[in-house]
Amino acid sequence: MPTPVPRGFLWGAATSSHQVEGGNDDNDWSDWERERGHVLDGTVSGAACEWWQARAEDDLTLAASLGHNAHRLSLEWSRLEPEPGRFDAAAFARYARMLDHARGVGLEPCVTVHHFTLPKWVARDGSWTDERIVGRFARYAEECVTRLGAHVRLWATMNEPSVLAFLGYAGDRWPPGLGDPRAAMGALARMLRAHAAAYEAMRSGRSDADVGLVINLPALDPASRAWRDRAVTRAQDWIFNGVVLHALETGWLLPPLVLVPTRVPGLRRSFAWLGLNYYGRYEVRFDARAPALAFGRHVQEPSQRTAHNDWGQISPDGLERQLLRLARIGVPLYVTENGVFALDDRVRERYVREHVAAVGRAIARGADVRGYFHWSLVDNFEWAEGYSAPFGLVEVDRATQRRTPRPSAGVYADLIRAGVFPV
Ligand code: FCB
Repeated sequence: MPTPVPRGFLWGAATSSHQVEGGNDDNDWSDWERERGHVLDGTVSGAACEWWQARAEDDLTLAASLGHNAHRLSLEWSRLEPEPGRFDAAAFARYARMLDHARGVGLEPCVTVHHFTLPKWVARDGSWTDERIVGRFARYAEECVTRLGAHVRLWATMNEPSVLAFLGYAGDRWPPGLGDPRAAMGALARMLRAHAAAYEAMRSGRSDADVGLVINLPALDPASRAWRDRAVTRAQDWIFNGVVLHALETGWLLPPLVLVPTRVPGLRRSFAWLGLNYYGRYEVRFDARAPALAFGRHVQEPSQRTAHNDWGQISPDGLERQLLRLARIGVPLYVTENGVFALDDRVRERYVREHVAAVGRAIARGADVRGYFHWSLVDNFEWAEGYSAPFGLVEVDRATQRRTPRPSAGVYADLIRAGVFPV
């Protein structure tokens, strides 16, 4: 028996401010991407998909015409608070128009307050290594919810704290590019504290705001049954996934986030829902020469990787597993990102079908999944890959900005229309 799609299920795609808006010159990424070697294909975000200027509305209309009933997007802190404590009414008004348009064409918005980028003034003060960011982030998040709360029900404080900590603080692929694992643990702990502070501020700003958090939970499996492979897999899973889930469930930060266990007031259960970003699975092999990776190298073949990043091996079962793992926490879940960079769209067609089927299996096994957002609606600026890793259901011609829905957009539309999950 195919699993029926729950009533009110959200079907959509996801984007983030810096990746689609264009003209974001006042955040940490805009400096970073101009420095040689940081972006694989040497591109800068530049005009991106011209959402800020005008094209958001057209793309949202296109999403609705492809059968979507929801869209996940993010707000750009550097636009909304260009200087400490000064909020820009015109920038808020631009987002209000976008969100009104989304609703007008039948898309329920899901809005993330922070999706990787920081205003330059925050970056100058040390980004996520500086304690002042906790209070500043909460103040900004509260301002977002009070000024835009009439347009949005579903809010996320931040996107993928572990990914940001690992790529920008433990590693040097993303700003601030510290390459310092200890700084990464401090940054991750601070992000969790900032999330808790923002959650409280947003709820006091607007009690009807449905506030959650978006985490990336890769599936990690040992490359063999050897004890060393199993041990490093467990270690990586703890550092990347487990320690964050434990903190969210109990309110306690444990090593290696901190040296001594520390309770964070307000962190326990600081979310009305959780968003899962899932791309693929990794096989972990012990490697004594890889201390920065907790002595575990990712060796799965084939894998969706570039010279700068690895999204893992395509594995719909991994999505099912991670949904079931999160379901134990007992709050509604959304798949807030799931997608594949592929030059051959047949890969995406199959990917979307098989992952939507995996969502259906997780629901059949008891997971309370309320929506699915494919990454992404349109090809966009893919961070350290620049424009060389297209994730869109819709192709964007960089020279003309012309949009062409790919066959996978049609496959997704058919899945949405079916009313039951594919088997
Ligand atoms: C996720 C990010 C998103 C996008 C996809 C491909 O980790 O949240 O912005 O870059 O990967």
